[in-house]
Amino acid sequence: MGVKEQYRDYVMTGFVKRVEPVIVDRGDGALLYDADGTEYIDCFAGISVTNAGHRNTKVLEAAKAQADKLVHACSYVYHVPSVGALAEKLAEITPGTLQKSFFGNGGAEAIEGAFRLAKRYTGKREFLAIESSFHGRSFATLSVTGNSGRKKGGGPYMPGVAFVPTPYCYRCFAETTPDKCDLLCARRVAEIARLHLSGDVCAFIAEPVMGEGGIITPPDGYFKRVKEYLDEDGILFIADEVQSGFGRTGKMFAIEHYGVEPDIMTMAKGIADGWPLSAFIAKPEIADAFQIGDHLSTFGGNPVSCAASLANIEFLQDGVVEASAKKGEALMARFRELQKTQPLIGDVRGKGLMIGVELIADPQTKAYGTAAAAFTRQYCLDHNVLIGVGGNFGSVLRVQPPLVIDEAQIDTVFATIAEALEAYTKQ
Ligand SMILES: Cc1ncc(COP(=O)(O)O)c(C=O)c1O
Repeated sequence: MGVKEQYRDYVMTGFVKRVEPVIVDRGDGALLYDADGTEYIDCFAGISVTNAGHRNTKVLEAAKAQADKLVHACSYVYHVPSVGALAEKLAEITPGTLQKSFFGNGGAEAIEGAFRLAKRYTGKREFLAIESSFHGRSFATLSVTGNSGRKKGGGPYMPGVAFVPTPYCYRCFAETTPDKCDLLCARRVAEIARLHLSGDVCAFIAEPVMGEGGIITPPDGYFKRVKEYLDEDGILFIADEVQSGFGRTGKMFAIEHYGVEPDIMTMAKGIADGWPLSAFIAKPEIADAFQIGDHLSTFGGNPVSCAASLANIEFLQDGVVEASAKKGEALMARFRELQKTQPLIGDVRGKGLMIGVELIADPQTKAYGTAAAAFTRQYCLDHNVLIGVGGNFGSVLRVQPPLVIDEAQIDTVFATIAEALEAYTKQ
C-alpha cells in the first residue's frame, strides 16, 4: 500500500481540508525533498518549527550523542543533565527575571501548565485573551483561542474568559489609525478586564506576534500599555511565544521587540529544531507557587530533545537570528514594492522571517482575498515552493522559512509568489 493510501485508510485527517500531495522524504536546511527526489523550498518550516534548518548538523550531533547515552528517565523523578543545562540556558536568554522552566511536549501542554501555575500563584481563575488568537487544541487553550473556526463543535468552553480586540492596525476594530487612536486596543484591555469579568482575573495571554491569526504585529507600545493595566490589577502577563520564539521574528523572542517582561512565557515549535519539546518559564516567585502534586509530564523534558534544544539555541545565537532579521526586512521591502503595482496585496507585515502578506479581493472594501491566497499556495506548490496560509478567512500568505534560507532561495520564493499573484489576476 502506498503512503497516500495508508493516509486515506488509516490516518485521521478529516480535520484538514487536505494533506498536501507531497510525500516528504528528506530535509536539508531550507529544502525538503519528495520521495522521487523533487526539491522544494520550504517556507513554512513545519509550521514554524525548524528555525535552524532541517537536520541542522549541530543539533543532530547533540541529539545523537545524547541518544547514545540516555533516551528517557523521567526528568521529574531523576536529575537529568541536559534538562538542568537547558533550564539554565532558557533563564539566560529569556527577558527579565524569568528563571524557572517546566518542560512538556507541545505548545498546548505548555499553556495548560502556565494556566495552572498562574491560578496557583494568584488564587484567581479568569482569563483574558485576544480575538483572532490561537493557543492550541486542548480544552483550556481552545477556550482562550479567539477563532470559532478552530472551536466549532467542541463547546461549551471554559467559563471566565473574555476577549479583547485584536491589535490589528490594518483592520482596526475602531476603524481608526495608529496616529489618532492612542492605542485604543490596549486601553480596551483594562475596560474589558474590569467590566466583562468578575474581578477574578488571573492572567492575560497573548502572542507577541499573532501567527495563525495572520501574522498580526501589535502596534509599538501595545504591550507596555497593557502591562501597566495588568500590573495595576494584579493580573499576570503570559506571553505565548510558541510560534514567535527562537529567532522567528529576528530576535530570540518576539516580546523583546516591545521591551516588556512577561510574568510567564510559553515556548515550543522552534525550541529544538523539530525535536518534540515545549516549556513554560516563570519568574521564580511565581514558579515556586506550585504545590506537591500540582503538575508533571511523563515525557516532559526528554533528554534527547533537551540536548537538541541546547545545540539549537547555540546555533541560533551564533549570528543566525541577526542575519535572519535582515533577510526578513529585505523580503518585506520587496513585497511592499510589489504592493505598489499589485492590487491583490492589501498589507505586508511581520518581523524577521515571520512574514504575512494579506491578500484582498477589493482595495476599496478590503474584502478578504481568500481565493487568491488558496490559488497562490497551490501555484507555489506546483512550482516547488511551500508556503502557509493563515488569518481567520485564509487570506494571508505566511512566509516562515527556516532562518538559514539563503538569498538565492529567497529570490525564488519572492519571484514565485509574484508570478502566482500575476497568474491569479490573469485567469
Ligand atoms: C501561538 C501558538 N500557541 C500554541 C500553539 C499550540 O502548539 P501545539 O500545536 O504544539 O500544541 C500554536 C500552534 O500553532 C501556536 O501557534
